[in-house]
Amino acid sequence: MANTEDNLFKNVISHAKEYGFIFPSSEIYDGLSAVYDYGQNGAELKNNIKEYWWKFMTLLHDNIVGIDAAIFMHPTTWKASGHVDAFNDPMIDNKDSKKRYRADQLIEGVIEKLEEKIEKEVEKAAKRFENFDRAMFVGTNARVAEYQKKIDEINTRLKDAMANNDMAAMKQLVDDLEIADPISGTKNWTDVRQFNLMFSTEMGSVADDANKIYLRPETAQGIFVNFLNVQKTGRMKIPFGIAQIGKAFRNEIVARQFIFRMREFEQMEMQFFVKPGEEMKWYEFWKAKRLKWHQALGLGNDNYRYHDHLNLAHYANAACDIQFNFPMGFRELEGIHSRTDFDLKSHEKYSGKKLQYFDSEDNQNYIPYVVETSVGLDRMFLSVLASSYKEEKLEDGSERVVLKIPAALAPNKVAILPLMKKDGLPEKAHEIMNVLKFDFRCFYEEKDAIGKRYRRQDAIGTPYCITVDHQTLQDNTVTIRDRDTMKQERVAIDEVKAIISESVSMAALLKKV
Ligand code: GAP
Repeated sequence: MANTEDNLFKNVISHAKEYGFIFPSSEIYDGLSAVYDYGQNGAELKNNIKEYWWKFMTLLHDNIVGIDAAIFMHPTTWKASGHVDAFNDPMIDNKDSKKRYRADQLIEGVIEKLEEKIEKEVEKAAKRFENFDRAMFVGTNARVAEYQKKIDEINTRLKDAMANNDMAAMKQLVDDLEIADPISGTKNWTDVRQFNLMFSTEMGSVADDANKIYLRPETAQGIFVNFLNVQKTGRMKIPFGIAQIGKAFRNEIVARQFIFRMREFEQMEMQFFVKPGEEMKWYEFWKAKRLKWHQALGLGNDNYRYHDHLNLAHYANAACDIQFNFPMGFRELEGIHSRTDFDLKSHEKYSGKKLQYFDSEDNQNYIPYVVETSVGLDRMFLSVLASSYKEEKLEDGSERVVLKIPAALAPNKVAILPLMKKDGLPEKAHEIMNVLKFDFRCFYEEKDAIGKRYRRQDAIGTPYCITVDHQTLQDNTVTIRDRDTMKQERVAIDEVKAIISESVSMAALLKKV
């Protein structure tokens, strides 16, 4: 991360704490690694993101319904899903620094460096030649070819080691690439071991292996095991989807970068059940739809890009990420996967129960194929928070920090501020609030100078401030201040609701998708 981006990220993190968005978990005990709590403003923003997703899925698509499955599931679920045997990350320790790493990430770091070297060659050449043709240059330059050959070799070895579960080969690759620990600087590594990311606990009073259950590492399996319950009771016809928002838990080896990678997090997942053979059509459909959903927030279309997976998981026949330009660069925000019939087929095998659909049009039974959309709620939160955070220099030389959160997602929609704490102004302000609070989340504040109060509302992203002054008592007008332009306008109290409604409305945001 470049220095300025690093500083920006640090500022976002401390702002999130200072203004009640995110606190380290159990902070009075010095926190718990990679676990966070959402504060009073964070919880509101998070709920609004959930609402945006839930309504998009279940209101705008009459063939998608939502469920809320339990976190605990029968342990065989995780055998069938492949998580018991294959939900592992290869870990390695440096014996000197005692730090733990993911071996595949250390190796990928070498690949990234080689890719950066290629980019530098390209940049240098682009400056030298007019009418520069990147593809031609990359295809013919000897140094680039050498770097690319190395990348391909490393990729092949890494892929083979992962596919064959060959941890010795992975360690050999770390040694051959002469990877040093960034902390100790030494190459004094342990062997690479597989580490299962699922948290387990015991159910009931007897702690033995028979009672071992897992905290779900993804919400998707709660949907698969309920596929027939929902299809039958909801009389759903293929193609149809089941949506769910809920907690997931992963014992990540390296969990850092704030709420980007946590051990307890939330997912918003939708499994779309389709006729076998039609999955690629639906995969493309959901790829486009999900990108549009993100872009409708107005955080900048350039901040999103697709990243197609070349190495597919065992259950997928196509997969991509929607990446977002986070403060530390482009990273995965959402995954879109064509999961074939892997999950339902496997649950059929392990449970001995038929999980098939009778297609009355074709007069046949089949196990549907599945296209999944899976977005991390906390990553969505980070994308909104980080891209809304602005440090602005104003014309009068002062500075402000403002969260330009999309208005429909903002924790509070309007702040109601009596200019003074006397002369009946607080009473009038409460009167206005008592009308508006049924439609909008309002915030009331009477302490401190009005300028200071405006700054505090800017810092938590409140789109509108309404100021009640002495003129209000005479003619029933107030000033309304816009967070982004800071412009103030005098309007009749009766007009306030109409002015605010459109721009903070979730329905208006959904219409943009
Ligand atoms: N059901 C498919 C699935 O779980 P995934 O790519 O492992 O796929 C989906 O996760 C999304 O969940 C990711 O795109 C990311 O947004 C979020 N996610 C995954 N692990 C996370 C973690 N440790 N902390 C926060 N979000 C995470």
